[in-house]
Amino acid sequence: MKINVLLGLQWGDEGKGKIVDVFASQYSVIARFQGGPNAGHSLEFDNVKHILHNIPSGVFHERILNIIGNGVVIDPVILRQEVEELQEKGININSNLLISRRAHLILPTHRILDAASEAAKGKSKIGSTLKGIGPTYMDKTGRNGLRVGDIEDTNFMEKYEFLKNKHKTLLNQYDYDYELEEEEKKWFEAIELMKTFRFVDSEHKINQLMAEGKTILAEGAQGTLLDIDFGSYPYVTSSNTICAGACIGLGVSPKNVGNVYGVFKAYCTRVGSGPFPTELTNEEGKQLQQQGNEYGATTGRPRRCGWLDLPALRYAIMLNGVTELLMTKADVLSKFKKIKVCTGYKINGEKIDYLPYDQHQIEEPIYQEFKGWDKDISEIGNFDDLPESFKKYIKFIEDQTGVPIKLISNGPDRKHLIEK
Ligand code: GDP
Ligand code: IMO
Ligand code: MG
Repeated sequence: MKINVLLGLQWGDEGKGKIVDVFASQYSVIARFQGGPNAGHSLEFDNVKHILHNIPSGVFHERILNIIGNGVVIDPVILRQEVEELQEKGININSNLLISRRAHLILPTHRILDAASEAAKGKSKIGSTLKGIGPTYMDKTGRNGLRVGDIEDTNFMEKYEFLKNKHKTLLNQYDYDYELEEEEKKWFEAIELMKTFRFVDSEHKINQLMAEGKTILAEGAQGTLLDIDFGSYPYVTSSNTICAGACIGLGVSPKNVGNVYGVFKAYCTRVGSGPFPTELTNEEGKQLQQQGNEYGATTGRPRRCGWLDLPALRYAIMLNGVTELLMTKADVLSKFKKIKVCTGYKINGEKIDYLPYDQHQIEEPIYQEFKGWDKDISEIGNFDDLPESFKKYIKFIEDQTGVPIKLISNGPDRKHLIEK
């Protein structure tokens, strides 16, 4: 059985958590393959909202096995918080969460290095979530990292001290005050909690589950336009967020990837710095932010908002080999009289219809305007009952991307869903 991959096609926060939760009933296994606690995946049911950071979004289904893959970076302290919050809600995940031995650990000093590095960048800061993601992946590729498997090693403390001291030397280069003792204490307490979970060679486990015919969904974090290679570098995250990242982050061969579900919002948002061609800094942007409740699930920061960007969406579809599109937050556009969609950009007075290398060069987006639907669509459950102008919007996106939109999400709750 091949694995299916679900990922974000924009700058993150597309609503991946909600859709994974909706799809979860069809799967035996949900696996995260990259990123870490920079992710904030929201799920809502029975009028309660849950936000997950390290833990896959299948944990609310008892029979589902959740795997944190080798490509993920884990902060034990945040993992502990999540586990405890779930326990308070009566959900015990000890028996249905597996953690890869190859996943890297975020140390307290990684977080401090992230903050010191961002502070030193001043105006050109990335706008990182400051969860230590960049420094941890740097240590991974620099071959200095500490992995989950090291926790089982008798010289874990020695390895920890060695890396910590390396970080302390690096921190001397920054004019940055920090306090470590309390953070370290919390970190080691959290390591003890981590030990109560099963550490596995997840690449073997996943391939074995595939051979047994189990249905597996790989859950992406961040979004395609934040990919370390293909995003608007350096304003990106430090992992490969695209479909290929699922192969690397789980140990699955590319020939074993089945469907690729691309989640996108009916408009665009971005949190943090970096180019955003269709960003609206006017009243319309504020309206999208308010109606969409666009505030970060991890940091609470307001998200920048703008119209849907088709060249950027086509780029993301190409990189991921998307087989089905899933549109979220369609309800948020309900009150707009006119809706715009970007079909190309003007650069040096010329029109182009693809996302260029240097997005700062874009002078202005070229828009196609649509009549709004002026009707609340959040209670609609059938595609046929949607307003004609909304259907036109859907058809236009499908024609422009060449990929069918199979699912429309029209509210944050599990039940807000329209199949097409
Ligand atoms: P993720 O990181 O991709 O999982 O997305 P986030 O959870 O960070 O952000 C998506 C936000 O939109 C969350 O607050 C969701 O509860 C909410 N959401 C998801 N789908 C919809 C939708 O269709 N309509 C509305 N109004 N909100 C949605
Ligand atoms: P989910 O999985 C939206 C952004 C940050 C910053 C850049 C680098 O919830 O969609 P990092 O902390 O990785 O060093 O930050 O990437 N970013 C996200 N934006 N959703 C996310 O995750 C994000 N994870 C990181 O805001 O611009
Ligand atoms: Mg999010």
